[in-house]
Order: sequence, then C-alpha cells, then structure tokens
Amino acid sequence: MKVTIDSGHCQGHGRCYDLAPELFGDDEEGYGKVLGDGTVSPDEEQHARLAVANCPERAIDLLKE
Ligand code: F3S
Repeated sequence: MKVTIDSGHCQGHGRCYDLAPELFGDDEEGYGKVLGDGTVSPDEEQHARLAVANCPERAIDLLKE
C-alpha cells in the first residue's frame, strides 16, 4: 500500500505527521508531505489509516498497489 497527500487540499493541520511520523513529514510551511515514496509496510498500516481518518481536509489517500 501507498499513501499520497493531495497538496491542493492539504491545509497544514499536521495531524498526519503527528500520528504517523514514520510516513509523513512537514515542509517549511507546515504542510504535510509523504516521506520517501509513500510505501506503507504492514506494520505501518494502522498509522496510515489513522492519518487518513484524522486529516480534516481528507487530503490523504491510502492506495492499494
Ligand atoms: Fe495536511 Fe491533512 Fe496532514 S491537512 S498536514 S495532510 S493532516
């Protein structure tokens, strides 16, 4: 699985990188960004789902590869 952030919808709420710091970071303006290529290992999947559910802008997608 893979996570993506739609930068057109992200408003910098920061819940993604608080809840799943192994998957997301922030840019210099506090907007979320995917770390690496966004690949989610099985043990990171719960955090990925938490981030998706907690983004107020629904900017995060979890995609099956
Ligand atoms: Fe942006 Fe949502 Fe994260 S608004 S910073 S993708 S919690």
